[in-house]
Amino acid sequence: MSRIYNFSAGPAVLPEEVLKEAADEMMDYRGCGMSVMEMSHRSKVYDDIIKEAEKDLRELLNVPDNYKVLFLQGGASQQFAAIPMNLMKNKKAGYIVTGQWAKKAFAEAKMYGEAVELASSADKTFSYIPDCSDLPITDDMDYVYICENNTIYGTKYKKLPNTKGKDLVSDVSSCFLSEPMDVSKYGIVYGGVQKNIGPAGMVIDIIREDLITDDVLPGTPTMLKFKTQADNDSLYNTPPCYNIYICGKVFKWLKNMGGLEVMKQRNEEKAAILYDFLDQSKLFKGTVVKEDRSLMNVPFVTGDADLDAKFVAESKAAGLENLKGHRTVGGMRASIYNAMPKAGVEKLVEFMADFEKKNLK
Ligand SMILES: Cc1ncc(COP(=O)(O)O)c(C=O)c1O
Repeated sequence: MSRIYNFSAGPAVLPEEVLKEAADEMMDYRGCGMSVMEMSHRSKVYDDIIKEAEKDLRELLNVPDNYKVLFLQGGASQQFAAIPMNLMKNKKAGYIVTGQWAKKAFAEAKMYGEAVELASSADKTFSYIPDCSDLPITDDMDYVYICENNTIYGTKYKKLPNTKGKDLVSDVSSCFLSEPMDVSKYGIVYGGVQKNIGPAGMVIDIIREDLITDDVLPGTPTMLKFKTQADNDSLYNTPPCYNIYICGKVFKWLKNMGGLEVMKQRNEEKAAILYDFLDQSKLFKGTVVKEDRSLMNVPFVTGDADLDAKFVAESKAAGLENLKGHRTVGGMRASIYNAMPKAGVEKLVEFMADFEKKNLK
């Protein structure tokens, strides 16, 4: 078996311990004589799996009792529509546009009501987080929406916006469980799991209970109504059973690692190795303003597209994969999620230093 260091933005690296355990249980899950993939979602065995996953997630994030945890299909993008459909009672909401994913959510919301752009960092290719201390939020807005970690551009909110009393809805897909967070500050926290938690195709929503009602926009599909999913504990229909099982294993892995405080320290340490190198490099340059840098996604460039392409090809040959930047920005991007070991980041920096020596004119 040979494994490479995978810097993909998602689907992304998962803990090897989790993959091995899943492999061991593939043919016979704990004496059941079948794989979790083959199991009824209404069985007692599966009920234990989903309940335990929820319990562990609640423990990791310290989720308050008045929040529901939902495991849903459709990925994060499905929520771009589900959120306005469920929350836009006044048909008006404020969006802070800090990258492609926030932009997509904003465009989707416009299909259901008046979505107002409260702030944007498009003027500087989304390389910073705008000042959110005094946004033009009006009384009739149903919520304020952010994308907390911008996977493509590598920015992260270090301070949540002043929402002037409105509920905050946050897409945390690419920073989910990378550090502790205070769930009580949000109306909804949600994220696709394919970065820090599990296999693609699933989203986890953590929703304050009073936001889960029958009062949704006309035409909201049954499956997209939060109440349907909450009333049925994510088992209204067949859920993404295997994904939930793997996510559950990752939650256990995180608990064994010491929880989210420990993950935060590890992630800060790993990111510092890369950012410190970028800050002194004469060839590579980070693209994000220092104070808004993400711990998870680190974009960088040489300023020469041919050299960037050479770097991507040579790094791949050296066992460092998926370092090509997003197609909309170019350059490189290293995603260093929870499961990326420190040794992977050290190897990347070693490779970058060597590449710099060979290619700096
Ligand atoms: C911040 C963010 N939001 C949303 C998405 C979309 O997720 P999905 O592909 O699960 O719809 C992604 C990336 O995949 C992302 O990085």
